[in-house]
Amino acid sequence: MRNLSMLTRIFLFCLLSHHIYVVSTSTPRYTDADNIAINCGTRDNSTAMDKRQWIGDIHSKFTPIEEGDPKSNASTPQIQDSSVNTVPYMTARLSYSQFMYEFRVTPGPKFVRFYFYPVSYSGFEGSQDFFTVKANSFTLLSNFSASINIHADSLKEDKTLSKEFCINVEKDQILNLTLIPSPSTSSKFYAFINGIEIVSMPKKLYYDPEGPGVPYVGQNYHFSINYEMALEKFFRLNVGGGFISAVDDTGMFREWSQQDDDYWLGDGVIPRVPSFTPIYTRISDYTAPDDIYRSAVSMGPNTTKNLRSNLTLKLPVDPGFNYLVRLHFCEMVFPITKPSQRVFQIVIDNMIAEEWADVIMWTQRNETPLYKDYVVQIQNKPNLFIALRPRLSAYGIADAILNGVEVFKLSDYDKNLAGPNYPESVPSPLLAQQPASASTASESKTKKTIIVAMGSGAGFLVVLCCMLLWKLKKTKRCASYYPLSKCRC
Ligand SMILES: *[C@@H]1O[C@H](CO)[C@@H](O)[C@H](O)[C@H]1NC(C)=O
Ligand SMILES: *[C@@H]1O[C@H](CO)[C@@H](O)[C@H](O)[C@H]1NC(C)=O
Ligand SMILES: *[C@@H]1O[C@H](CO)[C@@H](O)[C@H](O)[C@H]1NC(C)=O
Ligand SMILES: *[C@@H]1O[C@H](CO)[C@@H](O)[C@H](O)[C@H]1NC(C)=O
Ligand SMILES: *[C@@H]1O[C@H](CO)[C@@H](O)[C@H](O)[C@H]1NC(C)=O
Ligand SMILES: *[C@@H]1O[C@H](CO)[C@@H](O)[C@H](O)[C@H]1NC(C)=O
Repeated sequence: MRNLSMLTRIFLFCLLSHHIYVVSTSTPRYTDADNIAINCGTRDNSTAMDKRQWIGDIHSKFTPIEEGDPKSNASTPQIQDSSVNTVPYMTARLSYSQFMYEFRVTPGPKFVRFYFYPVSYSGFEGSQDFFTVKANSFTLLSNFSASINIHADSLKEDKTLSKEFCINVEKDQILNLTLIPSPSTSSKFYAFINGIEIVSMPKKLYYDPEGPGVPYVGQNYHFSINYEMALEKFFRLNVGGGFISAVDDTGMFREWSQQDDDYWLGDGVIPRVPSFTPIYTRISDYTAPDDIYRSAVSMGPNTTKNLRSNLTLKLPVDPGFNYLVRLHFCEMVFPITKPSQRVFQIVIDNMIAEEWADVIMWTQRNETPLYKDYVVQIQNKPNLFIALRPRLSAYGIADAILNGVEVFKLSDYDKNLAGPNYPESVPSPLLAQQPASASTASESKTKKTIIVAMGSGAGFLVVLCCMLLWKLKKTKRCASYYPLSKCRC
């Protein structure tokens, strides 16, 4: 368990005047050429909670192709859990032999997302999910077990699991997704899937085969994110902010996770300015939702203390792969308005990725989002560390800022992305229905975090708002609103 020094004491600066979290409902900034959502194991279309249309895979143009025997079956979970979304989770396609979905999509890079609800399904009791997933020549998952993976992280009380990949589809190429049960002698292994999504992305969002490449941390050359690679999303964090759902993304249906204290080492401060409209002069406006840039984590006003510490993220990853790390920055408000006011070093996996990070120098002004990409190779260690080390600026300030983080695993030379079922030591709970001891675990992890909420409107400092106890692990539901709606002023 964690010791006290790892508890994060977070001070929250929020805004009095505009304290309603505004979710944009206007037209998305990016319109996809392909936007396919398949509700596996269903006939006809179904409408999800967020109003998205999911197409069935029974007697539709997305019916899978099967050569082996026995054929796949559509089935439903044996338990009814009202907390799990009906679409796409209340139906699945399962099989003891291989099946393949074919997608005739436009050329270009795509998001490929898989949705799993690992419980016991009628007709498949007593056997377990172990399977490989291939997308054309890429191996995305190998001997993968959704039920082991979901129970491995029993501290998070998730019941469903999703996986997101990025794959390029060449001209005249069909995107084939193949699910292959692992071979077995004794028990029978099956492959299953509840939902599949294929969504186009802008050509240069993450890939850039013709560009100058991304700094390869610890090496003196650049790394090209080209179409010979597939990417797997490991983290997409709204640093200092709330959960952003797929429909509130910029049109690509990406989910952004809320601020999660478990990933941070040491203390931090959360500045938040929900009212401003980011100015997209440095990056495209579809790069991330505005809310990514409206909150951040920084270090606070104590220069002496800051110079002795780091703002450090510790993210669990699979060793043996390269990772693309995208850091989102935006200087939101007064008093940081000039170059060389807030300067810091960026250290990734203990290697200096950026000697002199200065967001205003990069963007020339406030309220202007920007991101920086790095590739780092992680060997023999289970965590990726991203540390921001403040430097003492000419203005006597020592601080750092971070608004968002995305981390992708990059496929290796064998076009493989698959890692172990993590962590391997966890005994396989043969389709247990609940994470073991989830309540005790979450209790011991509950942190009492003191939040001081302050406001700043139209560039002016600062109106004291309120103070509250924020139990981080329990605020999932109200994450987007948390501090403000709960303020006891
Ligand atoms: C099902 O949804 C798809 C995609 O939104 C749409 O193109 C199709 O017309 C729908 N089919 C029916 C029968 O509603
Ligand atoms: C799957 O469906 C086939 C018919 O298509 C049926 O014969 C078989 O029993 C089903 N298998 C299971 C495990 O339900
Ligand atoms: C996808 O499968 C079809 C057969 O259904 C095959 O003709 C095609 O070559 C496959 N495409 C790829 C990229 O594997
Ligand atoms: C898949 O994983 C299971 C459980 O760890 C193991 O028993 C089995 O041998 C593995 N199969 C392959 C093909 O690696
Ligand atoms: C700043 O931090 C240092 C070291 O932690 C501490 O000794 C000092 O009291 C702090 N100053 C203020 C104004 O809080
Ligand atoms: C800051 O990070 C560096 C390298 O990551 C480490 O050596 C140093 O001990 C850290 N300092 C603090 C105060 O955590």
